[in-house]
Amino acid sequence: MQSVKIGILGLGTVGSGTVNVLTRNSREISRRAGRDIEIYRAADRDLDKPKGCDTSAINLTDDAFDIINDPDIQIVVELIGGTGVAKELVIKAIENGKHVVTANKALIAMHGNELFELAQERGVTISFEAAVAGGIPIIKAMREGLAGNRIEWLAGIINGTGNFILTEMREKGRDFADVLAEAQALGYAEADPTFDIEGIDAAHKLTIMASIAFGIPLQFDKCYTEGISRIAQEDVLNANELGYRIKHLGIAKKTTSGVELRVHPTLIPQRRLLANVNGVMNAVVVKGDAVGPTLYYGAGAGSEATASAVVADIVDIVRALTTDPENRVPHLAFQPDALKDTPILPMSEVVTSYYLRIHTLDKPGVLADITRILSKEGINIEAILQKQPEEHEGMVPIIMLTQAVIEKNMDQAIAQIEALDTVPDSIMRIRMESLGG
Ligand code: NDP
Ligand code: HSE
Repeated sequence: MQSVKIGILGLGTVGSGTVNVLTRNSREISRRAGRDIEIYRAADRDLDKPKGCDTSAINLTDDAFDIINDPDIQIVVELIGGTGVAKELVIKAIENGKHVVTANKALIAMHGNELFELAQERGVTISFEAAVAGGIPIIKAMREGLAGNRIEWLAGIINGTGNFILTEMREKGRDFADVLAEAQALGYAEADPTFDIEGIDAAHKLTIMASIAFGIPLQFDKCYTEGISRIAQEDVLNANELGYRIKHLGIAKKTTSGVELRVHPTLIPQRRLLANVNGVMNAVVVKGDAVGPTLYYGAGAGSEATASAVVADIVDIVRALTTDPENRVPHLAFQPDALKDTPILPMSEVVTSYYLRIHTLDKPGVLADITRILSKEGINIEAILQKQPEEHEGMVPIIMLTQAVIEKNMDQAIAQIEALDTVPDSIMRIRMESLGG
């Protein structure tokens, strides 16, 4: 049987890894796919720049549209990233009747609804396993393996760079900027690393997972996003002392009034498996009504780990090349006409418990003022930790853990406490989750 010809767009970290994995494991991959897969062409902007793979047998071009317009190519693998030229290339590839594999979470989260509609019209598939949690096959697990469940919630560490930074800060007391530079050198970070640090990348991934879990259209603009740049070393240490770890989580939860869709630093009990996911590793817990909680763990970024997911998508497409488009697995797990417009809840309506770090003046009555405000807003205190006064500034750090409260009440309480003369600094708040089954 003739080989299937693929064209790769972008030979950076993931593109090079994809060439390496496809080349090294070609025999095993052909036995699985039922056909040989040939890297027929590849495009990269700067062909003189050294690549992380052997390109001697590949027909190279610096114009990615050459590949999109090549009639011999059946599958286009988009590994450029971003929503500019990558979007144009993917649209044109679909219009030209090519299947698309992409690792581009920004593209899928922001433009997936229109791209899937176009792909459906043209009878082609867009596969995006590598877009969420790097090498972990989480899309396939949720879309196919959990198809019998009503999914109740999912929570995950879905940004390798952020988890690497938090781990190094906690374990080695390293400086934020220094660890970020190392993550960039290792090829983990996005082209713009603020996407990693400020939670945008995690929000892209969460948006995609929530659609697949709950059968809702992609709604990236409604995802609440908070990064890790405000986390101080003292919060990491306080959390530890109280039996918790701070993790940057993406959480999607179905409630009776809508869907929670939020990315933020989160205190979770040290005994939870997610609390012990370190470095660049990612993990996602998905709770189905039938199966209960399930956990998926693996490398969330990196050249060959991500290529593993890209190649799996290519194999899936090759296996299904002769099937009727109507009988393929739907892009977002649910049939396109069965997606429901369940509302995404605003953060003010979300209920969680909190860690609060309040720096107060060292004066009598301060704690009483704070607890009075919390009580007025119906907030129960679970634990209080008063640290030693800070010598030179005469301030006392007070750490509080609260019971669950609706966020709008906590917003009001924080505003009132920050208005006290005895509380000169803004309050650090970190949401908490028990992640109980
Ligand atoms: P890189 O920047 O390493 O690779 C992108 C490559 O595309 C570069 O070689 C770049 O060239 C090239 N390129 C840029 N514009 C064009 C163009 N117009 N035509 C042809 N080539 C072009 O990024 P990554 O490999 O890290 O990421 C690729 C995608 O994979 C992104 O969507 C990313 O979010 C996603 N991803 C990345 C992971 C990782 O661990 N790195 C993990 C999971 C997903 P130049 O360098 O000259 O700009
Ligand atoms: N920058 C991303 C991360 C790459 O660090 O997780 C994987 O999506």
